[in-house]
Amino acid sequence: MKKFEIEVKLTVDLTLIKACIFDLDGVIVDTARYHFLAWKRLANELGIEFTETDNERLKGVSRIRSMEILMEIGGIALSEHDKEKLANKKNAWFVDYVERMMPEEIFPGVTALIHQLREQGIKVGLASSSKNAKTVIQLLHIQNEFEVVVDGNMITHSKPDPEIFLLAAKKLNVAPKDCLVFEDAEAGVEAALAAGMWCVGIGSPQQLSKAHKVVARTSDFAVKMLADFT
Ligand code: G6P
Ligand code: MG
Repeated sequence: MKKFEIEVKLTVDLTLIKACIFDLDGVIVDTARYHFLAWKRLANELGIEFTETDNERLKGVSRIRSMEILMEIGGIALSEHDKEKLANKKNAWFVDYVERMMPEEIFPGVTALIHQLREQGIKVGLASSSKNAKTVIQLLHIQNEFEVVVDGNMITHSKPDPEIFLLAAKKLNVAPKDCLVFEDAEAGVEAALAAGMWCVGIGSPQQLSKAHKVVARTSDFAVKMLADFT
């Protein structure tokens, strides 16, 4: 335990990172799965074939942009009214899935990681393009884990635009270059880089090749790895 304490202390002294900003869906909890299931259900209704590979393009982007990407995949055109109606339908299914979610569905080790970061004086924020982000963190009882929460209701341009991360950094009062973002979406990695931040990709190194580092699961990240970002 002593060794661990010394190691962590040294790491924090050696790192520039002052804040960690977490994406929600697919990083803290497997809600990315529920987004996929709801989009797939809509795609089936529209007669569009929709795979997990197609779904990668929807991760991190806004609801309406996701609807447009689905239309591109299916090669269909819709009026603004129908586009919105169908995106709302998908959202009702998504909300239905998440309302049945249990706090046990938080990825193992994630709250422990957040606690370790905060114990080391690292600020922790949440930045999700989802307009449901606050509902999700309340359902999971983790709303108090974050000093700052920025969601899809607070921004004009969703990822890959850097707006959401820049707003989170501003609210945390930390310079973008001292922030480390945790992201599972290609659009999210691009947003973090465009914001001038460090980025850890959660998932496949092929998919998230632009991230500074990639780990398979959020809990594979250890506080001592902060020293890699200097
Ligand atoms: C996150 C998810 C996306 C989702 C977006 C909007 O970024 O990764 O898959 O489309 O939020 O979510 P919302 O809950 O507002 O429809
Ligand atoms: Mg995500």
